[in-house]
Amino acid sequence: MLTQAQNKLLTETTPGTAGGDFMRRYWQPVALSAELDLDTPMPVRVMSENLVLFRDADGKPALIERRCPHRGMDLSYGRLEPGGLRCLYHGWVFSKTGQCLEQPNEPASSTFKDRIKHKGYPCTEAGGLVLAYMGPGEAPPIPAIPFLLADAANSSVTKRYHECNFVQANDIDPSHLSFLHLLFDSKLANGPSNQYNIQDSSPETMCEETPFGLRAYSVRTLKDGEKYVRLTNFIMPNMQAFVGAPIFNPRVRRPNDEDGYSLHWHVPIDDEHHWKYVIHYSAVGPIDHEYQDAIQANEVDDQLRPVRTAENRYLQDRQEMKTRTYSGVGTSFQDQDRMAVESQGPIYDRSFEHLGVADKPMIEQRKIIFQGIQDVQEGRDPLILRKDVANPFDELITRSAIIAPGVPVQGFWRSGVELVTP
Ligand code: FES
Ligand SMILES: [Fe+2]
Repeated sequence: MLTQAQNKLLTETTPGTAGGDFMRRYWQPVALSAELDLDTPMPVRVMSENLVLFRDADGKPALIERRCPHRGMDLSYGRLEPGGLRCLYHGWVFSKTGQCLEQPNEPASSTFKDRIKHKGYPCTEAGGLVLAYMGPGEAPPIPAIPFLLADAANSSVTKRYHECNFVQANDIDPSHLSFLHLLFDSKLANGPSNQYNIQDSSPETMCEETPFGLRAYSVRTLKDGEKYVRLTNFIMPNMQAFVGAPIFNPRVRRPNDEDGYSLHWHVPIDDEHHWKYVIHYSAVGPIDHEYQDAIQANEVDDQLRPVRTAENRYLQDRQEMKTRTYSGVGTSFQDQDRMAVESQGPIYDRSFEHLGVADKPMIEQRKIIFQGIQDVQEGRDPLILRKDVANPFDELITRSAIIAPGVPVQGFWRSGVELVTP
């Protein structure tokens, strides 16, 4: 449980708030690379800031404030020209840094334009995403998360619109796998983890703080005494990495944790909405995009808006709940999770909750975030941005495994134990 003041601190990212200052110290995705055409500026809203994203003459992304500083027209309707973005209303032109370059409605001798410095943020592309740095001072290096360093062809990236605050992300919650995501028809399941999650619904959880955030172990005891261990990572300030569904078509390539993993990056649109960037990363070369696209094809419309929404009660099917799925909203984990977190309300009031032993990873995650907010408020670098750690992602491990009785569970992945990957 949090006090309402703590909840506010955790969930607010508008400019000038403590949480907003903290989040702005990190690079954040602002679009999928594939969404941003060469010739069409794109309106985006990030952490309650209305911005326009466009590609410059070299095809590089640029992000500036959307409202024209002259008399406020929306610049996303503007003309893209080799020098920058031209406002339709009176023709002012802005460079990718926000500098006003031309004011054709002013006298030719005027130097007024030199004094108009519109807001502009550094931008780059990595892993199939357009990233922006919206914080103070010089931008830090792009975080050395493997999918951001690899060729974009190694990742499948998409995003899901969520009508709730970004902190409601539930990827490090281990016990919900034994309920919300259960499939009664084993033919619908991807691999054996569904069966393991049924066998033990109250996993033991252990957490370790890491240079990137938090590593959480969930340990389920199976019928024969073996342990099913699954690692989930919270990466500061708003990302999770974990073993997900198979990243290649299991009919073509046997699922193997070494092949890659999934990441969810929850980016505030404002305090009551967020984009969940869904990333599947292959560590072994180009991913099978056709397979990944096919899995996700029926979940969203052509604007990436989910088909199942609160308005249509997520098309929940009571008949399906009897024989096929626990949730009644199909087999997509994305839809099941979205129903859970959106139904908590636009900004979940954590003064209402009652946390148990099963909720340990979320409790630890909040502590790390609060520490990060305090670090920024007191002028220290928060996790990942500290200069004394060469690569905070050296020990980013995503793995699930079956471990024999008696073998230590924590740190199994570095102990050289012979594992049976489920
Ligand atoms: S409002 Fe943009 S140039 Fe006038
Ligand atoms: Fe989930």
